Amino acid sequence: MATWLVTGGAGFIGSNFVLQQRQAQAARIINLDKLTYAGNLNNLAELRHDPDHIFQQGDIGDRELVARLLADYQPDAVIHFAAESHVDRSIHRPETFIETNVVGTFRLLEAVRGYWAGLEPAKRAAFRFLHISTDEVYGSLGPEDPAFTETTPYAPNSPYAASKAAADHLVRAYHETYGLPILITNCSNNYGPLQFPEKFIPLMILNGLQGKKLPVYGDGQNIRDWLYVTDHCEALGLVLAKGTVGASYNIGGRCELTNLEVVNHICRLLDELFPTAASAPHSGLISFVPDRPGHDRRYAMNISKIERELGWTPKESFASGLAKTVRWYVDHPQWVEAVTSGAYRQWLQTHYGFGS
Ligand code: NAD
Ligand code: TYD
Repeated sequence: MATWLVTGGAGFIGSNFVLQQRQAQAARIINLDKLTYAGNLNNLAELRHDPDHIFQQGDIGDRELVARLLADYQPDAVIHFAAESHVDRSIHRPETFIETNVVGTFRLLEAVRGYWAGLEPAKRAAFRFLHISTDEVYGSLGPEDPAFTETTPYAPNSPYAASKAAADHLVRAYHETYGLPILITNCSNNYGPLQFPEKFIPLMILNGLQGKKLPVYGDGQNIRDWLYVTDHCEALGLVLAKGTVGASYNIGGRCELTNLEVVNHICRLLDELFPTAASAPHSGLISFVPDRPGHDRRYAMNISKIERELGWTPKESFASGLAKTVRWYVDHPQWVEAVTSGAYRQWLQTHYGFGS
């Protein structure tokens, strides 16, 4: 069995990926995660007795730790999810985004380069560094613009997007300069189980369940291209197995929706599940709040390349994926209880001016 070093595997997408790939017994996984506010070992609870999932708390920027993990476990691939990932937090406090997403990725690359250079030729040739990135590096589209392709020039608008763009450039440069066998994926907005409820969809679900305001930024007409998280994880597995070294792949859901359409859809699902709730119809909770500074108007991904070259296409429709997601949050009150701690309430207070 192959061995992978996964970074950020206790976060939303990373934990979905680790669970999916361990279920398929695709590889032994060494999971390096700092367990920031966004990292959660409860996400990995079902792997507690899995001998082929080895969790290590730590920072991707800790050179000695990363070098030791690489030397001890001799991975065949590094799959790099670890990042600060929330745009609003990057506006309040950009520094940690530079530390983790830029400097952390740089240090990880340096450690991996040293390890990779020392491998015997066959293992060296087969090695892969898969870097997980975002559509936000491309900036914002106008209403009639064609969707982003892999050759769209980078134009990041938030500190988060800029830090991810910088990381993408570093990863690419390590291929061009040192020959490190890298792959980059740029994905659109994910949703699904295990997403920390600072992000739009789980925030709206949980606030709706609790009869709290649903804070929609600006006019609610910003467009995102939504993808169910397990579809993203399957795409990553394919890119790792079959992607062209040095290439980047766009991943998306071909599912452009305005924020208002998404929140109304959530409200309808909550109305169906809880028709007699005091807050039904839940759309009455929608509250327009001041816009996010530099708020990108529209994202849309052209996914022809990954469809054509690797045969991937999204499986889940938005209707089925959103229904599953709402059901998951309703069915996991203990998970919700554990993540909506004091630090989470503090964030709501700082950012929205209301606690949970
Ligand atoms: P997340 O915030 O839920 O999880 C990030 C994880 O990284 C957490 O477990 C955290 O503890 C860990 N981490 C943070 N700093 C670390 C450090 N210095 N060292 C080790 N671990 C650290 O993020 P997510 O939504 O799961 O996103 C994962 C990746 O996918 C990110 O790189 C993000 O940019 C990218 N991405 C996310 C989306 C999305 O919609 N969520 C879309 C496209 C791309
Ligand atoms: P988010 O989940 O933060 O993802 P991103 O900014 O990376 O796309 O936000 C998705 C969209 O929802 C984005 O247009 C901002 C908007 N939004 C709100 O309207 N209200 C909120 O409280 C949040 C968190 C986001």
